Amino acid sequence: MLERLDKRPNDLSAFWMPFTANRQFKQAPRMLVAAQDMHYTTDDGRKVLDGTSGLWCVNAGHCRPKITEAIREQAGKLDYAPAFQMGHPIAFEFANRLVDVAPEGLDHVFFTNSGSESVETALKIALAYHRVKGEGSRTRLIGRERGYHGVNFGGTSVGGIVNNRKMFGTLLTGVDHLPHTHLLTKNAFSRGEPEHGVELADELERIVALHDASTIAAVIVEPVAGSAGVLIPPKGYLKRLREICDKHGILLIFDEVITGFGRLGTPFAADYFGVVPDIMTTAKGVTNGVIPMGAVFVRKEIHDAFMTGPEHMIEFFHGYTYSGNPIACAAGLATLETYKEEGLLNRGEELGAYWENALHSLKDAPHVIDIRNIGLVGAIELEPIPGQPTKRAFSAFLKAFENGLLMRTTGDIIALSPPLIITKDQIDEIVDQVRKALNAID
Ligand SMILES: Cc1ncc(COP(=O)(O)O)c(C=O)c1O
Repeated sequence: MLERLDKRPNDLSAFWMPFTANRQFKQAPRMLVAAQDMHYTTDDGRKVLDGTSGLWCVNAGHCRPKITEAIREQAGKLDYAPAFQMGHPIAFEFANRLVDVAPEGLDHVFFTNSGSESVETALKIALAYHRVKGEGSRTRLIGRERGYHGVNFGGTSVGGIVNNRKMFGTLLTGVDHLPHTHLLTKNAFSRGEPEHGVELADELERIVALHDASTIAAVIVEPVAGSAGVLIPPKGYLKRLREICDKHGILLIFDEVITGFGRLGTPFAADYFGVVPDIMTTAKGVTNGVIPMGAVFVRKEIHDAFMTGPEHMIEFFHGYTYSGNPIACAAGLATLETYKEEGLLNRGEELGAYWENALHSLKDAPHVIDIRNIGLVGAIELEPIPGQPTKRAFSAFLKAFENGLLMRTTGDIIALSPPLIITKDQIDEIVDQVRKALNAID
């Protein structure tokens, strides 16, 4: 059976692929059938270097034996157990281990199955928290232009990517957006955090002045925006947001779905920037991407605010059938062990300077108008072809894949986020491949 599925299926029509140019794909499929460590294998037997950790999730590299074994063992022991009014030890164990690596003060965990669900959960916790505290008028949510917070209605509403929003009606009402922080003319080719733009955080004061703080529940931002093309916060920006939120009693939510678990060279972006949010959403790297799972971290005061009322009553009417799924928890525990044993949560710091220099060596490559980097994240922004946005980067993506590198593009931006086990030679290989692809396209 598995043998047969290593071959290309003869009909690709039934699967409506997510976030994919379906017609283009099905004419010229790019099919992955196996993976190990830093590489995928295609159905025609080629090795492809994974420059994107799958979708920003396989932080420890592919098919790591400890994780695979933990899943196999758990599947044969306790495959599923409900987490509503029932418990299984591994979910508690995993929550405890997660809290150990989380930024100081984020000491409770709510399990979900994806980044999108983590975001919905965080927004609902924020709204309900104010209500249980007697501040039920705080219902407004603030996102940011070019933010990506998954695809469910709450996340789409606070998100700021027009193509993700425009087809879906009015979305949630009572949502405002901060301006994005991508100041290309002032900050192009910055290394790490850009110099200009801290004042963009002050836009939150403008929104507060317009609506009054008593109506605002929470601000949600990605510490480093990923899906909108790797937008790195200007120096001091996140600290300023934290200060304004504190001043007005507004909760600060960091969406760390891609920045969590070592991506910036620290366990979380909150550690990197020295700014601890009130709620932190994660997914992806929590299980090395192997089993769907998300985890929302909250401060003790938020959790404890719910622990009132009759003790037989459910405190928070929210949860998923698979919250804390035992197999996902087993994968997560083995993932955390792998991260720890191999120092992966800090490896981005060790390799950061090499990565930065390697990426910025592409400054003179064709079409490049900006290069950005932080931790083990990089972006190369291309001049769009007039009248045909996204086409140039997509051509580069296709060419790179043909030559043996998987990268990701969003708009005309190439985003890179390799597994944290990458070697210096493999960093060089990524950069060579990107140059080769840019040389080959119009
Ligand atoms: C910051 C952020 N939030 C949420 C999500 C949604 O995660 P998922 O695709 O697991 O629902 C993503 C996915 O890329 C993300 O980057």
